[in-house]
Amino acid sequence: MADQELRADDDADSGFEDAASLQSTSLSSSILNYTYENGRRYHAYRSGSYPLPNDETEQDRMDLLHHIWRTMLGGELLRKRPTNPQRILDVGTGTGIWAIETADEYPEAIVLGTDLSPIQPGWVPPNCSFYVDDAESDWTYEPFDLIHGRSLGGSISDWPRFYKQCFDTLRPGGLLEMQEHDAWISTIEKEMPPWTDSWNVTLNEASALFGKYLNVADKHVGWMRDAGFVEVEEQIHKIPIGSWAKHHKDLGRIHLSEMLNAVEPYTLALYTKVLQKSLDETKVTIEMVKREFCTRKHHLYVNYRFITAKKPG
Ligand SMILES: C[S@@+](CC[C@H](N)C(=O)[O-])C[C@H]1O[C@@H](n2cnc3c(N)ncnc32)[C@H](O)[C@@H]1O
Repeated sequence: MADQELRADDDADSGFEDAASLQSTSLSSSILNYTYENGRRYHAYRSGSYPLPNDETEQDRMDLLHHIWRTMLGGELLRKRPTNPQRILDVGTGTGIWAIETADEYPEAIVLGTDLSPIQPGWVPPNCSFYVDDAESDWTYEPFDLIHGRSLGGSISDWPRFYKQCFDTLRPGGLLEMQEHDAWISTIEKEMPPWTDSWNVTLNEASALFGKYLNVADKHVGWMRDAGFVEVEEQIHKIPIGSWAKHHKDLGRIHLSEMLNAVEPYTLALYTKVLQKSLDETKVTIEMVKREFCTRKHHLYVNYRFITAKKPG
C-alpha cells in the first residue's frame, strides 16, 4: 500500500528501578492536576509543554488513529519485527494502546510506555508498565532492544537530542521505529482549498513560535542518520481524507472521521494561546477547515511515514 499514487475515483461516492528520571508509579496529585481551557482538558506534569488536550475525546481520536496505523501495516504493530526483543520502549505512549498490544504480541518482552499524561488504563498485560516522564528529560533507562514513537510531531523541541538519547539507550543492533504523519494536508490538485491552505501555514507557524514544530515527519530520516543509525528506511503511505480515491475507500472514510476530530485539538491552544487569536475566530477556522475536509470536490490526503533504523552492532 506504500507510496501508491492517489487518483480520484470518478464513480465514487512494574518495576523500572533503573529509570531515575521517571516521576512516579503512583498517581501523585500534581500529575492529575489537569487544566481546563475552552472546553478541553490538558496535562498537568510539565504543564503547558504540550499543546494538545488529553481528555476522553482526544483519547478516542488517538485510538482511532492507532487503528489507521495498524491497517496501513496490514494489521501489524511494526513495519520491522524485532527478533526476540526483551525490552521495548514506547515514547509518548498516549492511551498506551500500542504498548498494550505489543506486550500481548511479545509476552517474553517487558514493554515500557512513557507520557506526560497518566491516561493509560490500569488493567494491562503483566509485562507492560506506564510511567509519567518527559521524553526531553535525560534518559537513564537500561538498554532497550526496540524504541518506538508515533505521532510525536509537536511534542519534541530538540529532535537531534531525542535521537542521540535513542541511540545511547538502544543496545548495539537494537531497532528504532518511528511512525509519523505529516502535519500538513496535501492535495492531488494544483491548489489547496483556501481555509486548509492557510491553516497548514498558520498552525505550523504557531508551533514554531511554541518551540515544538509540528510538521517534522519528513526530517526523521536525516536526524536518524546524523545520530549514527544505519539501515535507515522510510515507507510512505498516502491516505486520503474521505472516500474519494480509488484505493483506501474504507480507510479514507475512517481517516476523515479521525481528521475531523483532529482539527480542534491541534488548533485550539496554538491559535488562542500562542497566536493570541480570539476563540471566536479560532472556532470559525476550525469549522471551515472541517467543512473543506468534507466537501467531495476536494481531494485531500496526508502522508503517513514509517521510518525504521538500526543501531550498529
Ligand atoms: C498525538 S499523541 C500520540 C500518542 C501515541 N504515541 C499514539 O500513537 O497513540 C502524542 C502523545 O505524546 C505525549 N507527549 C507530548 N510531549 C511529550 C514529551 N515531551 N514527553 C513524553 N510524552 C509526550 C502526549 O501527552 C500525547 O499522549
